[in-house]
Amino acid sequence: MLSELQSVVQLTPTSAARRPVPGSVQMKRYDLRSRTDRLDPETDYEEMSRILAAQEFPWDINQALSFALFRTYAVPSIGKLLFSTGEFTDKVQKRYDDTSLILDAILEHGLSSTEGRKSVRRMNQMHGSYDISNEDMLYVLATFVVTPVRWLDEYGWRKMTDNEIVGSTNYYRHLGRYMNIKDTPDTYEGFVKLLDDYEREHFSFDSGARAVADSTLDLMCTFSPNNLAPKALVKGFAFALMDDHLLDAFHYKHPSTAMRVVSRGALKVRARLLRFFPVRTKRKFARELPNIRSYPNGYKVEDLGTFPTGCPVKHLQADQQAQA
Ligand code: HEM
Repeated sequence: MLSELQSVVQLTPTSAARRPVPGSVQMKRYDLRSRTDRLDPETDYEEMSRILAAQEFPWDINQALSFALFRTYAVPSIGKLLFSTGEFTDKVQKRYDDTSLILDAILEHGLSSTEGRKSVRRMNQMHGSYDISNEDMLYVLATFVVTPVRWLDEYGWRKMTDNEIVGSTNYYRHLGRYMNIKDTPDTYEGFVKLLDDYEREHFSFDSGARAVADSTLDLMCTFSPNNLAPKALVKGFAFALMDDHLLDAFHYKHPSTAMRVVSRGALKVRARLLRFFPVRTKRKFARELPNIRSYPNGYKVEDLGTFPTGCPVKHLQADQQAQA
């Protein structure tokens, strides 16, 4: 019973993650960069990813990956499937939370830890219920590798170093291996090419994918402090951060140049100001973010997600063929 209770993750500051990282009190602005400089991206990629995503750039990487969701919907084979399961349109907060919490558990505890393995197993069980191509899997993996680097290039208080990029790439290459994804690129440059080529070839409109994107945008409008601003303004800000190719795939209108300049400029001002702020001494994992709201009393990773019994896309196609 006790061990059962202990395995329920509590969203309180008592967890190990809230403890200061040893030796991290009174850190200087570039101390975390110095720390990742000393790590070996071939062996320490998990620790490097933890420093990047939970300490050095938690907000930025969370934003980058939230915006990356839209990129994945814009590939119709992905957007259609995500629409057909109904999770993103009917239970979007839970879907968002479960995705973050499963990936967060892997990051926090490590790929080969018990908690990490339980999380990967949960993810693989869900994916295994659907006909998902290796190419789509590779593309989604590429969004995890590339979009945080590009976001930080534009809006970070500093860019990722080459060493950090190699570490983060290796982290996702290993995650891909645990997910049975084949033909994973060896380098960051390989992921960039894969991502850009795939988007050029596959981005296009699908009404289901658009519904999933609309629903995700509505959810983002409820996040603090977005909830204090008019919805139209929050959405306008989000559109201003999207590139034309992505907007076109959803038939979203292009924002005005002024809106783009103001929105992107605001993020750049934030980046400049951040340089004068103290370094985060405590790691902040996704489960501690206020946007994650489905489990105020904690959760067990093995209970997260869905337990599908078949692929709705297959059934949809069979119904259409039967009607033809
Ligand atoms: C590296 C690649 C990917 C990662 C890391 C990933 C991650 C995840 C995670 C963490 C979950 C659990 C979310 C939840 O429990 O609600 C999940 C569920 C799911 N994923 Fe993926 N995913 C990847 C690729 C894909 C692709 C390419 C597709 C579709 C073509 C896809 C479709 C789904 C579906 C259908 C579910 C079940 C929940 C639902 O019905 O929406 N995933 N994925």
